[in-house]
Amino acid sequence: MIIFDESRKIFRLDAGNASYAFQIDTANRLRHLYWGPALDTTDLESQNLQRDFSVNPDFDPNLCASPRMTFLWEFAPNDIGTYSPATAIVRNADGNTVTDPLYTSHRIFAGKPRLAGLPATYVDSDDQAETLEITLVDAVTKVEFLLRYTAFRDLPVIARSIQVTNKGDKPVDLLKLASMTTDLMYQKLDVCYLDGYWAKERTFHREAVQGGLKVLGSTRGFSGSTMNPNVMLCDRNATEDYGRVYGVLFVYSGNFAVEVDQNALYRTRLNLGIHPEGFTWHLEPGESFQSPEALQNVSDQGFGPLSRAWHDLIRQHLINPQWRTAQRPLLCNNWEAMHFDFNREKLLTLAKTAKANGIEMLVLDDGWFGKRDNERCALGDWTPNTEKLGCSIGDLSDAIHAIGLKFGLWFEPEMISEDSDLFRAHPDWAIQTPGRPLSYHRYQYMLDFSRKEIVDYIFEKISSVIEEAKLDYMKWDANRQMTEVGSFAWPAERQGEIAHRYMLGVYDLYERITRRFPTMLIEGCSAGGGRFDAGILHYSPQIWTSDNSDAFDRLAIQYGTSFAYPCSTMGAHVARNWFAQRYSPIQTRAAVAFAGTFGYELDLNAMPPEELAEVKGQCDFYHECHHLVDQGDYYRLGNPFEDRVVAWMHVAKDKSEFLLTVVFPRLDHAYTGQLLRLPGLDLDASYTDGTHTWNAKMLAYGGMDIHDPGYGDQQSIVIHAKRV
Ligand code: GLA
Repeated sequence: MIIFDESRKIFRLDAGNASYAFQIDTANRLRHLYWGPALDTTDLESQNLQRDFSVNPDFDPNLCASPRMTFLWEFAPNDIGTYSPATAIVRNADGNTVTDPLYTSHRIFAGKPRLAGLPATYVDSDDQAETLEITLVDAVTKVEFLLRYTAFRDLPVIARSIQVTNKGDKPVDLLKLASMTTDLMYQKLDVCYLDGYWAKERTFHREAVQGGLKVLGSTRGFSGSTMNPNVMLCDRNATEDYGRVYGVLFVYSGNFAVEVDQNALYRTRLNLGIHPEGFTWHLEPGESFQSPEALQNVSDQGFGPLSRAWHDLIRQHLINPQWRTAQRPLLCNNWEAMHFDFNREKLLTLAKTAKANGIEMLVLDDGWFGKRDNERCALGDWTPNTEKLGCSIGDLSDAIHAIGLKFGLWFEPEMISEDSDLFRAHPDWAIQTPGRPLSYHRYQYMLDFSRKEIVDYIFEKISSVIEEAKLDYMKWDANRQMTEVGSFAWPAERQGEIAHRYMLGVYDLYERITRRFPTMLIEGCSAGGGRFDAGILHYSPQIWTSDNSDAFDRLAIQYGTSFAYPCSTMGAHVARNWFAQRYSPIQTRAAVAFAGTFGYELDLNAMPPEELAEVKGQCDFYHECHHLVDQGDYYRLGNPFEDRVVAWMHVAKDKSEFLLTVVFPRLDHAYTGQLLRLPGLDLDASYTDGTHTWNAKMLAYGGMDIHDPGYGDQQSIVIHAKRV
């Protein structure tokens, strides 16, 4: 519900069990008032921290710059004395960057409009959300800002975006546009973020918010593995089930910046938007720019409820609805088994073993097209290599389908190798800047997806393969990031638009592929989990979480990822002991992979027989209880960076069953077990796994007795119990 209190000029947005409020001040600027648990009042003026620095009775705070740096802003103007990161910066035709739009009108309506050309959350029916649109106009430049807020009825989430239109008669340049600004005024806040690297994605970090500006973001052209567009601010004493936690999530896969700026008065600014570095957008009179969508979420009971609300939002309002409840095919991917070294016979042998053990789909990874026998060539040449395959891709697909498996293929649609027919024909199709050598990354460049004709070409090439191979699944990889950003197709004053225009091209291709092949499942990937974000999830409901499938490392990667993204989105496979760095029992590799979209990434035929003997049982177990992983409520019960045991739980929404996983990363000779309290259960019930029966209150208040099931590192326990 969205309320406008006319007398106080206060907007209050109620979303799920939360409220958010701001005010139009006497100068017609927007000032933030409140973000937290649900309110039943608009009497919120006490939250509007009016500081009067003057003893002069004629003092007018609207004309005086000095108090402005102390106000809480909802849209932070630029260069009028707020002295903190602005929401937007527009360079006008005079060359200055004062940006000070004022309220002119608003409207409130049921439902949620779509964002043209961009991924965004959606509702199934208008009663699931309400939207507020506020129009602000800068009096000098006549640049208009349309602020959109959608409050979800059942979740404490608000979706925000800003559309900028040049209503003046001279061109302007947009130098910065955050999709959201909010100001908090609490001491002792921590900031939590997920940074990392290849094979170490989304590592959870938490630290005190300090004075000054901290920018968490990416300028790689991709959201990237070094920082995820998911940031939390929380009370210093917040835990999984205690304390205030604020979360923001960006529905975008390109450059982003989360600005956390605390001034000496403890006002903490939170901006989220496209990273201003390298970004400009030229607006001729009448032209518009639409920001990507930012999501905000709040919990007053710690991180657990915040994450569960994100999970529900992503599953119900972001991913392709077709994959909300449908169980994803249990797959075997040939990459780590074969790399580039395969042929029809090897693939069919693998497919037969996969089928015999309960696997449902074979995915042929990199190397099936052009002259691609190594990573140095052929990206862009999306013609199946019939010589290597020993048949056409259609015949191979038929043979795999005849075995009774679904069939998937790997693509890297956005990339081009220098050693490719495509590059030889169109050297100008790579992103580049005149006069400078192109930097390599994995021997490849990026296609200039800011140009529609290039997206059109790739769409046609890829579509004909998908059609011929009757694909059930496509793995959409993207293994390099941007450097020397420029395009031959755009004029000098628009070169600052290329990184975002590229992303619009990527989304356009995703949109067209999903529309043309509505039943094909797409799994995102970017050198592992290098583009794991809510933008990609809109089109591909699962993303390869990391190239690192080591069970121990995955505990941390999946833990970090789970703060915003549900388990149903995390590609997780049983691999051989990854790069042989350390040994994990097959049971533990499976236990960890069960907490994602499950599959195998190894040569089943080369597995030790005692390990292969486990596969069928694991596949049966997946079918028995993966609905809990896909759709249940997720509880983190241990922190892999600190705790003796790492555990998590998936509980059915109706509390009728649960799946508990406990991993003991290191053998501890003196460890005799512990009691693990289990949340989320029906306290009036008992649960049984067929062998033991537990009283739910005992599990919740006392705890389950757990101890190492075997001798050695990385033992694990998986318990699937149902209400009696
Ligand atoms: C990336 C992916 C891998 C695999 C290879 C193929 O590294 O993350 O899963 O697909 O590319 O080249």
